[in-house]
Amino acid sequence: MSPFLLTRTLPEDATDAALRADVHHGLTGTPKTLPPKWFYDAHGSELFEQITELPEYYPTRAEREILIARSGEIAAATHARTLVELGSGSSEKTRYLLDALTGLHTYVPVDVSESALTQAGQALVAERPGLQVHALIADFTAGLTLPDTPGPRLLAFLGGTIGNLLPAERAAFFAAVRSLLSPGDALLLGTDLVKDEKVLVEAYDDAAGVTAAFNKNVLTVVNRELHADFDPGAFDHVALWDAANEWIEMRLRSRTAQTVKIPALDLAVDFAEGEELRTEVSAKFRKEGVRAELAAAGLDLAHWWTDQEGRFALSLSVAR
Ligand code: SAH
Ligand code: TRP
Repeated sequence: MSPFLLTRTLPEDATDAALRADVHHGLTGTPKTLPPKWFYDAHGSELFEQITELPEYYPTRAEREILIARSGEIAAATHARTLVELGSGSSEKTRYLLDALTGLHTYVPVDVSESALTQAGQALVAERPGLQVHALIADFTAGLTLPDTPGPRLLAFLGGTIGNLLPAERAAFFAAVRSLLSPGDALLLGTDLVKDEKVLVEAYDDAAGVTAAFNKNVLTVVNRELHADFDPGAFDHVALWDAANEWIEMRLRSRTAQTVKIPALDLAVDFAEGEELRTEVSAKFRKEGVRAELAAAGLDLAHWWTDQEGRFALSLSVAR
């Protein structure tokens, strides 16, 4: 079996310090917020995999359809020897790229979820003798150092996860991505597209309640890590379309007036009845907007592919 390397780029207590800082900052501000990367402990990663199979959640199926149709073209356009994937999760859709990239030397999945990385990485090396897998436990918004592997490099960012960053964070993210690439290297980016409001809202508020459980999981993470006493049942899951910003906003709405204690931060947080905590945005895109954001970072849009129904886009851009 070929090697599976797992590198933790942050010490475990750095994660702890970052969680404390984020929770303190987010719960003492107005409106209250919590950043989305804390959804993904082992249980959160598992709930996300369930989301990808929900009838209402079309992005995974749409992106898979594009990858099946276009991986050959992607391979021919990039000749990648190193594939880096940010927020790789289960790496399930990545298999189409790995099949098509015949000259591939190393796959570098990057994720904050150690459980997702370990499961996906071990399965991949067992299936694909000869492929090197060098997984990185890292925060892709925090300045990555990639292993020294042969170019050309293809950096994939799938699942529409780019939409979970706010516009200013996106600009910083694209600039950081560009700095990881050499001229001629490529970025493969999955973006969910603006569409009918009802289709969008249902994708983030499914009938079975899986997305609600996923959203509330962030409270369970804070309970476990910071000994807080959030009662997930005392909050309602809310998903709404913000037409001005063209994003879905996920919130947790307090059902009652309540005080939550977070002993590890020496903090008591008051919620009014109906007060909402913003947990995540999921921005939806248009082609010209994506082109402009990439261009501002030194990435030239070269291909734009959508699924048959035009719901989701995969774009390939090239570093200047
Ligand atoms: N690419 C997969 C998973 C998308 S879900 C797919 O398309 O299905 C988003 C993934 O990004 C999760 O696995 C989550 O753990 C990871 N993630 C979220 N924020 C992150 C961050 N700041 N740094 C690294 N990984 C992150
Ligand atoms: N990147 C995914 C998306 O924006 C993440 C996601 C899907 C998500 N459903 C969610 C995040 C529900 C929070 C809550 O589609």
